[in-house]
Parts: sequence; structure tokens; C-alpha cells
Amino acid sequence: MNTDISAIREVLLARIETLDDKASILRSPELKQLFAGIKDQPAEKRAAYGQAVNAVKVELEEIVARSQEKADDRAPIDVTAPWDVNATLSLLIPTTHGTVHPLTQEIEKIADIFARMGFAVSESREIDDQYHMFETLNFPKGHPARDDYDTFMTVETDKDDDPFIAPAHTSTMQNRALVAGRAKLEAGEPIAVVVPDRVFRNEDLDARHEHTFYQVEGIYVAQGVHAGMLIATLQKFLESYYGTELEVRVNPFYFPFTEPSFEFALSCPFCGAKTEDNSKGGDPNCKVCSGEGWIELLGCGMIHPNVLKAADIDPNEYTGFAFGCGIDRLVMMKYGIEDVRHFESAKLDFLEQFS
Ligand code: DAH
Repeated sequence: MNTDISAIREVLLARIETLDDKASILRSPELKQLFAGIKDQPAEKRAAYGQAVNAVKVELEEIVARSQEKADDRAPIDVTAPWDVNATLSLLIPTTHGTVHPLTQEIEKIADIFARMGFAVSESREIDDQYHMFETLNFPKGHPARDDYDTFMTVETDKDDDPFIAPAHTSTMQNRALVAGRAKLEAGEPIAVVVPDRVFRNEDLDARHEHTFYQVEGIYVAQGVHAGMLIATLQKFLESYYGTELEVRVNPFYFPFTEPSFEFALSCPFCGAKTEDNSKGGDPNCKVCSGEGWIELLGCGMIHPNVLKAADIDPNEYTGFAFGCGIDRLVMMKYGIEDVRHFESAKLDFLEQFS
């Protein structure tokens, strides 16, 4: 072997013993220098010189490979060692991920409360007809209250030449729930159904009005149902949802499908203030009730006899109550959300607060 090569080999073998990163020897200037020298050899010696240089490199590579095997031997993985699951997962899982929409989360809570009170939970639909939107609810054709609903209608019409509609309230499901529940009444059981779902209105949009929002409809029919049962049911529901005791106020109102009809207000869950005569009594700085102390929340009443008749239920034998409550409003009040449009805005900084 060329004396240069053997001298350099000795140097490299001595050095590799001292290195932590043994593979770095393969990048050493001495080894490079040996390889660079190949081309300077006279033609007849070049092949032997090249082989000798290569042998040094192979020898070093073997030492590197052996040292790596040893390192592996030295540090077996201890699967029983304590470890930080979250630290490991955070390396594997992206830190941002989707969450259930806040309204969906709240609808589940609302449905759960009513289910515990014995109500079945049903769904509405996204296209419906005039019959369920108006006729079965005691709004005959030409009734002026039809105009209150700012209903979206289709260009196409049904067999009666009426346009289809995007339901403007969950009350469209009343007739269906009553018809489906008739057999229960005959079996001596009440009809008790809630329908939380999406509704649509062609409204001017602002912080309190959206074209797409959610309501929960409630229907309860049996023998001897009276308005006291309606008020107690709604009060219990609201107290359970807000997790606090509340005072309620019931004012007369008008809906074609209930008689009598009421508007239901509750004492503000934030400032909770009220006075004996129900006049202004809230905290003047309360952003939710503007110092009123009361919040008008939902419509309700005793189901009109014509609505029962439209479902072939005898109003002389059975009575019932119904209510319809805006879910967006309920949720806005719970969390102090000031603009209803946030819900449909897909703004991540808003949505991520509810993860
Ligand atoms: N459907 C009504 C609305 O959207 C709310 C309502 C009022 C529903 C009274 C009811 C009720 O079931 O009895 O304005």
C-alpha cells in the first residue's frame, strides 16, 4: 500500500475512535485528499491506488455502521416509561381543527332538556307548502297575517297553483305532529313533540335579523291541558337552559293558530332585575335587556280549535298548548352575543370560542 495511504489510514482510524458523530469521518478532508490523488497517479499505478483508497473508505464505513448498531443496542425503547401524551400528539395533530357549530351544540342541549321532560324530538324540512305553512294553522287564503311572515316562495307551483315555500316558522310541523299523534290520544297518551329546526324569512338583515335562523316548536295535546301547564313547561325549560331561577311574564298577543295567544318574557338572566309592577327595573348598563329587566322571548298559546280540527282531533275532547321560540335569540342571550349574523358568517375567530 502506498505509504501516504497507510499513514492517512492510521490517522483516520485513531480519530474515528474519538468522534461522537463517527459518520463525519467519511467527510474528512484527508479522505477527500486521498480520492483527489487518484487522478495524479501514473496510469499504471492508478488502479491499485484507487482500490487501496477505496478499501480505507470501506473500512471506515464498517466502523461507522458497527457504532450505529451499538448505539441502537444501547438505547432500547422503554415502552413502559412515562411519557407526555399531549406533547406527542401535538407533534402529530395540527393544532387547529373543526368544532361543532355553536347553534348545533345548543340545539342538542335544548332537545335534551325537552326529551327529559317527556317530549319526542322531531325535524322540520326545508321546502314545504301553503297548506302546512298557513291553511292548517287557521290562516285562510287572503288572511292578512300571512304577510307577516316574509315567506320565500318558489316560481314553480303545486297542483292548487300555489308556490312552494321555504318554511318561515317551525309551526309548519304542527299539523303533521297532530295527525301522527292522533293514535296516541286514542290510546290515552298525550301528544308531546318538539321540533328544533331551521327557518327562512325574506327580511332586511341587521344585528337582530337573519334570513336563516332556528326555532324550536313545541306541541302538547291531551285531555284537560290548560295555560298553567304551558307556562310551567316554558319556565322550567328556560330555567334549565340558563341554569338559574327566572321570573316569567305572560302578555296577551295574537297568532291565528292559538287562542288565547301570549308573548312570553323572562327576567333578564344577566341583570335579573325586576320591580313589583314589572316596569323598568333592570341594570341600566345591561347590554342584553337595555335596562328593561325583561326580555320578550317567544310566542305561545292554547292551540286553536280549528288547528285541532284540521288534524281530525275533536277540540271538545282534547286541548293543547303550542309554543315557538327563536333559538338564535336564546343562544345570543346566553353568551351575550351582540349580532345574530355571526352565526352564519363562518368567521373562525367567532366560532372557535365555542370549541
Ligand atoms: N310561529 C310563530 C312565529 O314564528 C311563533 C309561535 C307562536 C309558535 C305561537 C307557536 C305558537 O307554536 O303557539 O312567529
